[in-house]
Order: sequence, then C-alpha cells, then structure tokens
Amino acid sequence: MKLKKILAVLMCATMVAATATGCGGGSSSAAGSSAAGSSAAPAASEAGSASAASETAAASEASGTASEVAGAVSAAGVDLKDAKVGISIYQFSDNFMTLYRTELVRYMVDELGFSEENITVQDGKNDQAEQTNQINNFITSGVDVMILNLVQSSSAPQVTDTCNAAGIPVVYINRQPDETESDRWTKDGIKATYIGADARQSGTFQGEEIAETPNKGDINGDGKVSYIMIQGDPENIDAQYRTEYSIKALQDAGMETEELLLQRGDWDQAKGQQITQDALTQFGDQVEVVFCNNDAMALGALQAIQAGGRVVGEDIYLVGVDALTDAVQNIVDGKFTGTVFNDYFGQAQGAADLAVKFLNGEEVDAINMVDYVKVTADNAAEILEKIK
Ligand code: GAL
Repeated sequence: MKLKKILAVLMCATMVAATATGCGGGSSSAAGSSAAGSSAAPAASEAGSASAASETAAASEASGTASEVAGAVSAAGVDLKDAKVGISIYQFSDNFMTLYRTELVRYMVDELGFSEENITVQDGKNDQAEQTNQINNFITSGVDVMILNLVQSSSAPQVTDTCNAAGIPVVYINRQPDETESDRWTKDGIKATYIGADARQSGTFQGEEIAETPNKGDINGDGKVSYIMIQGDPENIDAQYRTEYSIKALQDAGMETEELLLQRGDWDQAKGQQITQDALTQFGDQVEVVFCNNDAMALGALQAIQAGGRVVGEDIYLVGVDALTDAVQNIVDGKFTGTVFNDYFGQAQGAADLAVKFLNGEEVDAINMVDYVKVTADNAAEILEKIK
C-alpha cells in the first residue's frame, strides 16, 4: 500500500470531512465481508440481520489490507490484535445502529487488525441500568477502550467518571452528551470523545428537499405547507434538531408552515405507520408533507400513505433521514421525496480510529463531526450503488 493511500485511509477515518462521495460509502472493498455477522461480535451476530450484513459488506473504498493499516498503527506502539474493546449499542433492534455496529466491527477487524475475539458488542436493550451493568463488566474484564452508544446521553458524566477512574478511555457515538460534559473532558484532560453528525444539518436538508419541489410543498396552493412531524425519541438531540431545523429551512425558503401534528415515533417503523394512518384519517387531504426524523419511521409512513390511496410526489411529500437501502430505493422508484445520508461508514470508521488514537496515547478532539449528504431523485441511484 502506498503511503498516500494509507494517509487517505487514516484521514477518512478521522473524519475531518468525510461524505458519501468521499470516504464514507465507497463501493468495493477487498477486505469487506467477514465481521458483519461473524463471531467478530457474538452479540452483534445474534441480532444483526443478514440484510444489514450485506448492506455494509460494500463498506469503504479504503481498500488496504488489514495488516498494512494495522502495521502503520502499531508502529506507533500498540499491537491492536491484543487490544480488548468493549462496545455497547443502545438497542440492537434499531435499523440504523445495526448498520453502524456491523460496519464498526468489520472495519476494526478487517482493516485495523483487531482480533475478533477481543471485541465484545453488547445490546443495551434501551435500558440505561442494563447498559451501566455492561460497562461495569467491561471494566472488570479489563478492556483497554470502550465505544459507547449510550441509552441516555444524560448519563455520560457518571459513565465518564467511572471509566476515567478505571483508566479506560471512552469513545461516545451517535448520541451526543451535552456541551458542559464534553467541555469538561478538554478542561480536565479526561480521555473521552464524541463522534457523530450535526443533526441541524440533516434537518436543514429535509426542509430544503421540500422547498425544492415544484410547489415548495404547498400542494393545495393555500399559501402554507401543512405537515405532520413524526419525531424520534424526543430526548435525543437528533430528534430535537431535525424537528426544528427541517421547518426552519422551509420557512427560510419563504414558506409559511402549519403543524397539524407532532408525535413521537421512537425511530420505529411500526409507530411511523400507525401515526401516519391516524393522521391521514384525522386530517385527510390537509396533510401535504410527512416529515420523519428517520427512514424507519418514513418507511412506516409510506405504508400508511399507500394504504390511504395517497401518492407521494403527486398529492403528498415524504422525507426521512439515514438513507436506509429501502428508503433510497423508494426515491429511485418515485415513492419517497427524499432522505439524508447519515454516514455510518464515516462515523463507525472514525469511532474506531479515535479508539486507536487513545490506545496509542495520542490527543483527540472532544467533538468529531461527519457530514450528512442530501439524497433526492437527482443522486439516489448513485447513493444506492454506494450503500447496497
Ligand atoms: C439517529 C438515526 C436514527 C436512530 C438514532 C438512534 O442518528 O437517524 O435512525 O438510529 O440515531 O440514536
């Protein structure tokens, strides 16, 4: 592997500015297959679906072999094949986080040279007490680093203190602890960091996608865009920002907006379906746009829209976030207005690389952000190639 290529791999992984077209979603990988559903992550393989595994198999265009990259890293002093890693995901049944954890383990084993048997992936079961137990067990079992997708980001101060007291660095993913907490890491030299994506950007892209339709979302021409908003978990900053910034972007584009309904759907497809079905019964043709904080809920909304005899792109618009394969395929087929690629390749690879930096004793920034990418009919086919 040429040095330039190694640098490209490592730069992608530190995610200064990864996008779908950059490092995140490259098409083929020499390395990309095994970890997804294999014994690399005993817990992950229990719950990881075959489709999630195949969706992520394409992985990154960082096509260097594991030994080359691992060699580069271990030159800095740590043999990654002996490093023990504890990973806990807030809930295995979450579609997006399934793609994320599959890619995380695949990348660590296939491209960085970690040993499968030294990586433990646990299901937090959406229960903070359960997850806290897992973290305590990681400490007892002597892990060298943790990668944590907290059930409640508000538990970060306590978790950080526990891990810090045990001398174990932590990479938080997906659910951002508040600023007071991350400022403390920098100020007190605590070995903790966060990698994620700024949900204000994804919300803004959703609003822009509606503003870019021929009638800017005002299908019935009454001078305002009447919408329903299906929210994820409202305590989650991603849900809060997407809800706020999608509407702000539409208003910034000069549109008046009317909220018919705002309801929590907990990122869940069945809830998205039920909420949309009820809203269509209650508000009928008044509903011009269905905003969903993620694609799983938007896929549920599409089921209700179709069952209600409505047609996306003609008498209703529908947008989500994540770029799940089914959602992007629906855009190609004209059944979704748009989504936003939540770059799990970039975030997972970035998380693993931050863990390696901690293992190597390097400094890391407290906050690391990966860009979202707007997905509409203009680029859906191209994005689909990268993720499937
Ligand atoms: C979001 C993602 C959702 C869900 C959530 C979990 O970033 O869009 O689909 O996975 O994270 O915290």
